[in-house]
Amino acid sequence: MTGELVLTRRALVRNALRKGVRGSFGIVVAWVAAACGSSSPSGFGGTVRAGPLQGLLSEIDRERQPAYVPGARAYVTRYPASALPAARTVPAYSQLLGGMEQGVVVMYQRCTHLGCRVPWCMSSQWFECPCHGSKFNRVGEQRHGPAPRGLDHFVVQVDDGGVLSIDTSRVVIGAPIGTDTTGQTPEGPFCEADATLDLHPRSLSLAQPASSPPGSPPSSSWWWSWW
Ligand code: FES
Repeated sequence: MTGELVLTRRALVRNALRKGVRGSFGIVVAWVAAACGSSSPSGFGGTVRAGPLQGLLSEIDRERQPAYVPGARAYVTRYPASALPAARTVPAYSQLLGGMEQGVVVMYQRCTHLGCRVPWCMSSQWFECPCHGSKFNRVGEQRHGPAPRGLDHFVVQVDDGGVLSIDTSRVVIGAPIGTDTTGQTPEGPFCEADATLDLHPRSLSLAQPASSPPGSPPSSSWWWSWW
C-alpha cells in the first residue's frame, strides 16, 4: 500500500514488546489480540478519541504548542488555511486533506530518522529531535537534520458532534524533504543542536541539566524514549 503502513497483527505484537511490556499479562493480551485477528478498537493501533476539535484548537493557540494525545502517541496541531493551496499539491498529504481543511493535522511522535520521540521546542516553535538534531516545522515538515522525510501522520475524523478521532491503525508516511507548505521559519532559538548544521541550542542547560549525572541522556527521560 503506497504512502502508508498498516499496523498488522505482527506489528501489533512488536509494538507491545517495544513499549516495554515485559510482563506476561501484556504479552498475553497482545498475542490474544493477534490471534483473534483484530486490532484493539481503541488505544494505539486503533481509533483514539482526542476530544472536541474546537477546544483542542483553542488550547493549541492559547498554549502556543501542539496538544499531545498519549493514547495516540501523537501531536495534534493547527493546520493553517493559508497553507491549503500548497498542501493540495503534495501527494503525501492526499489522505490528510480532510483534516487539514478542518484546520487540524496530527503527527506521530516517532522521529523518521531512527525513532526517538520528538518533543516540541517552545522557543523555536518547531519539533526538534534530541537524538541527532532533526528539526521539523509546526506541521511536521522536515527542515534540518538527518531525518529522511517529515514526521509521519495519522488520518483524523471529526464526527457530527465535533469530536476529533485519530486513526492510529495506519501510519501515513511523512512528506518528502523539501516540502514546506507553511513557510514557517524558526520563531526563536533552537532547543537542540543540529549534528549537520551550525545550529546551537538556546542553552546547554536545557539539553543537559546540571543536576544530571555524567552520561545521562541530554534531556528529561520522557523526551528520550524509543519506540
Ligand atoms: S532519531 Fe531523530 S534525528 Fe536521529
